[in-house]
Amino acid sequence: KKQVNIAVLGLGVVANGLVKNLIAAEEKIKQQTDLSLSIAKVLVRSKEKKQGLAQKYQLTLTTEVEDILVDPTIDIVVELIGGIHPAKEWITLALQRKKHVVTANKDLIARFGNELTATAKANNVSLLYEASVAGGIPILHNLNTSFMADEITAIQGILNGTSNFILTQMNEAGLTYEEALESAQVSGFAESDPTNDVDGWDAAYKLIILVRLALNQDLVLDDLSVKGIGEMTQVDHFYAHDFGYQIKLLAYAREVDEGTYAAVEPVLVPQTHPFAFVKNEMNGVFIESKMIGNSLLYGPGAGASPTAESVLTDILTIAKNLNNKQQALQMSPSNLPRCKLHKEG
Ligand code: HSE
Repeated sequence: KKQVNIAVLGLGVVANGLVKNLIAAEEKIKQQTDLSLSIAKVLVRSKEKKQGLAQKYQLTLTTEVEDILVDPTIDIVVELIGGIHPAKEWITLALQRKKHVVTANKDLIARFGNELTATAKANNVSLLYEASVAGGIPILHNLNTSFMADEITAIQGILNGTSNFILTQMNEAGLTYEEALESAQVSGFAESDPTNDVDGWDAAYKLIILVRLALNQDLVLDDLSVKGIGEMTQVDHFYAHDFGYQIKLLAYAREVDEGTYAAVEPVLVPQTHPFAFVKNEMNGVFIESKMIGNSLLYGPGAGASPTAESVLTDILTIAKNLNNKQQALQMSPSNLPRCKLHKEG
């Protein structure tokens, strides 16, 4: 068996899910592959706080990132600390030291995905980030494989589990906005600071990543119109319901004559539209393409286990690739042309 050593940066909700999923999948991985995966080190802020988990899962904790970055036995670094700094610097160092990287960090990939991909390419190592968009839905993998020869003309998605959970609970359980947000936080869907979830920025980051891979265009946040759900009241839901609609926070990008229109905003969706059936923390991505036509990918967009499963799949993809001595894997070209944008208003 080929031994593949993994180091995880962070031990929060998703990292916890990864440890559990890896243990649950151990036998299957042994039976179906020539691989033996192990989490060799975990970077934490405080060893004391994570002592219980470390003992339970027999994890070796460190508080020094250098312990991981200079360790020649580490093959794959999994970044699960989130945010831009120091995640960007640590991923860059890991790639430069010829370690493959898996991340779930949408903010970072949306803003610096091209730069990091170029660094990965230059060092002939892989950089994958399936979990950064739509949690457990294998959307990025699909864009890179099933749509390879097709031409995507529009992409629409319910991409934030927290806001979709809040809207569903307000609509169906009659909860107030505050009650629904608290419930999403308790369930572990929301970011540590849920502002980005409810203000639309989390969905905007995910849309930028989707547009890069689906429409081959490189957007920045300023290119998008972004509105969140913070001002929604129960009355809005009553009216929408009376007229046969549901309110959903949609992220969408479409090629129009003037360029591309990209936005995140609450919209009215007819009760009969597939998006009306995407409830709570579920996500849905609707793709319009010239050859396949219309496709809908649906699944859990947040939560420890589904998100960790996307991370684990990236790890296994890289590990198998390493074992077969194949070329490093990256998700997108590193130098995309800036496109002409059409912005409303
Ligand atoms: N906070 C995010 C969400 C987690 O609610 O969708 C998954 O990216």
